[in-house]
Amino acid sequence: MERKKVTLPSIAKAYDAGERLAMLTAYDYPSAAIADQAGIEIILIGDSLGMVINGYDTTLPVTIEEIIYHTKAVVRAVEYGLVVADMPFLSYQTGSRDAIRNAGRLLKEGGAEAVKMEGGRNMAEVIRAIVNADIPVMGHIGLTPQSIHRMGGYRVQGRDERGRDALIQDAAAVEEAGAFAVVLEGVPGTLAAEITSKLHIPTIGIGAGREVSGQVLVFHDLLGLSGDRQPTFVKQYAHLRETSVLAVQQYIREVKEGVFPGPEHTYK
Ligand code: KIV
Repeated sequence: MERKKVTLPSIAKAYDAGERLAMLTAYDYPSAAIADQAGIEIILIGDSLGMVINGYDTTLPVTIEEIIYHTKAVVRAVEYGLVVADMPFLSYQTGSRDAIRNAGRLLKEGGAEAVKMEGGRNMAEVIRAIVNADIPVMGHIGLTPQSIHRMGGYRVQGRDERGRDALIQDAAAVEEAGAFAVVLEGVPGTLAAEITSKLHIPTIGIGAGREVSGQVLVFHDLLGLSGDRQPTFVKQYAHLRETSVLAVQQYIREVKEGVFPGPEHTYK
């Protein structure tokens, strides 16, 4: 089947048709090329790159320059997927003016097609301002990693009645502010289902069960590159860390034994 570029209208059309959306993070040229070749519809340069790529404990140190740098690499590899760049901590919390400028940089310098930002009712005004500047916004509510200190850790959100009500209101506010989709992270499946049934934009779940409009995973988690200790919601579709260590060990052996390079790797 002929593949078409994924756009905001095509996402809305797929959502209206009840199709589930597959979203994945990518941070560099090879990961983006793999995601795009495989048919991923939404490719996210997540601020998770701070932890996944740079080894920080949280996403808080990630800068707008780092997201732009990684977005440029991803954009060079992507032909079909919609490229969404994450707004890092403090690139939008300081007000609409800063938020528009930084979101604009992700499109103008990075080449992204949309931005993602964390927050619900507290960020509705900022989302509206960015959308009014013609920059498409994906929301992100529930377990929002940039709020780690308020949450007291990476904890499932919306487990009690007050938390549930708050997230239902946050989801409505994000939709009302003009977001084209919203990530629901780390929330009980029943709550994600309820939010999904109330909204008219796609919900993209991560640790939110299956009653949502789509799923997102971190590239390195999906491929088993992040090690064995994974949260419950991660499914490893391959074990590339193990495979990679074995490959590197074989390389070391062959170098030491004089097996590599062989004649076939030697110029005549
Ligand atoms: O930064 C990220 O990778 C994310 C996704 C997990 C949704 O926000």
